Amino acid sequence: MTSFDARLAAIPDTVVLTGGAEMEPHFTDWRRRYSGRARAVVLPGTVEAVSAVLRLCHGTGTPVWPQGGNTGICGGSVPGPSGAGIVLGLGRLNRIRKVSPEDDSITVDAGVTLQAVQEAAEAADRLFPLSLGAEGTCQIGGNIATNAGGTAVVRYGPMRDLVLGVEAVLADGTVWNGLRSLRKNNTGLDLKQLMIGTEGTLGIVTGATLKLFARPRSRVTAQLYFTGTAEVLATAQAMRAAFPGEVDALELLSASQIRIVQRHFPQLSLPLPDGAAWSLLVEVVGGRSEEEMLDSLTAALEPMLENGTLVDAVIGQNERQREAIWAQRHTVTEANVREGMGLTHDIAVPVARIGEFLAEAEAMLAEYWPEAEQVVVSHVGDGNLHWIAMFSHADWAAKPDPEATQADLDRRAYDIAHGLGGTFSAEHGVGSIHLDEMRRYKAPVELGLMRTVKAALDPKGILNPGRVVPE
Ligand code: FAD
Ligand code: LAC
Ligand code: ZN
Repeated sequence: MTSFDARLAAIPDTVVLTGGAEMEPHFTDWRRRYSGRARAVVLPGTVEAVSAVLRLCHGTGTPVWPQGGNTGICGGSVPGPSGAGIVLGLGRLNRIRKVSPEDDSITVDAGVTLQAVQEAAEAADRLFPLSLGAEGTCQIGGNIATNAGGTAVVRYGPMRDLVLGVEAVLADGTVWNGLRSLRKNNTGLDLKQLMIGTEGTLGIVTGATLKLFARPRSRVTAQLYFTGTAEVLATAQAMRAAFPGEVDALELLSASQIRIVQRHFPQLSLPLPDGAAWSLLVEVVGGRSEEEMLDSLTAALEPMLENGTLVDAVIGQNERQREAIWAQRHTVTEANVREGMGLTHDIAVPVARIGEFLAEAEAMLAEYWPEAEQVVVSHVGDGNLHWIAMFSHADWAAKPDPEATQADLDRRAYDIAHGLGGTFSAEHGVGSIHLDEMRRYKAPVELGLMRTVKAALDPKGILNPGRVVPE
């Protein structure tokens, strides 16, 4: 045993895994796209233990690869290739510390799953609105580190808008307790922002105080079907106008995406009406009764059905139908993994330019990669599209240089988004896979500022080295 191993083993309340089989699940991401290695997987059970691990790693210059639920999509949740560092898993920090309905806040350890936070809020008759397909597995610390988005951003904002305070362990092991439930606090730099969306490169999130909301009295969900994107976008706007402040989801699916769910999870998919090329999931929530909300939604949709804007509409009339609509939406990522090699682009453009993006991207794919299918799943209300070029496993395996193909396709898709005033990563982050895009699309002044902040908080470069900010 080296002295590093002995000192690691001596840290109280800490599980250290070093066997190949027990470490393996921590080395590969949920979609099995990215993997790396580490000398140990370290699972601290207290904030003090996280601090002791960081002190040891800082003193020895050992890389630390923070890991939450390992559901991240940008290759940032698994260790790098060298095998030199440790994976720091936060999953054993899993206590709900305090639920304060009187304050509309909840304070939790970083390793609590998103679903457990939603359930704790519900038990106190409150809502924690962040919602995404991985919610049973992803952790609050990971949600903060990636500034996760999901399906309710259109009403409640991304994770950044839901965090009131953060507790973090800094690179040298210093514990910073920034847990506050204040809604207003203009006292200098808002330091919690350093931990939000920075993907574990500036500190380890160990706890958080989050906003809770009143639970809506009623919730009405519908799946609408269209022939073209112009009608989808007009309907999305019409819904916002008809239900001011009450629309909590606007999720666009291409017919190709629904067919993929139908192929792999027939029990979780809904029938696709003839002629439908696009489908929009709309959900409205509010303080009125469910009957009133249903009446308002029906009244808003009827003229659209009559004038042909809509091909068809399915309104969830009860909880079971509502769940069926959401089940299809939340199954897309799993279905896509089974379908083929999907090259996903988590782009965002200004809402007004979504139609242009879709038209240009579709034409680009048809011109250069006609064998691939365009698949779209999107938080369209936020201008955020997961634009996917889906190759069959066989077509992908036959590519002489798949890496070069991916780089070429990525560049073309991101150039279109960038040209429309958009971004190459809306909600999934940078991780290890978007360093080239950071170099290409971020202004030198922005990269310089990021490097300055990184050097100040992590001077030895031990936290997720080489991730997010290109060297
Ligand atoms: P991980 O994947 O373990 O880590 C992600 C990053 O955060 C890594 O860089 C890691 O080093 C860092 N990190 C993790 N925990 C900490 C911590 N405590 N302190 C510091 N750094 C940390 N994302 C969306 O935004 N919207 C969606 O709709 C969405 N849907 C998804 C659906 C499915 C089926 C799947 C598999 C993923 C989806 N994702 C979505 C991506 C993913 O779930 C989110 O990025 C999530 O926030 C990651 O949380 P995690 O705990 O799994 O973090
Ligand atoms: C979704 C993930 C992939 O929206 O972000 O389903
Ligand atoms: Zn998403």
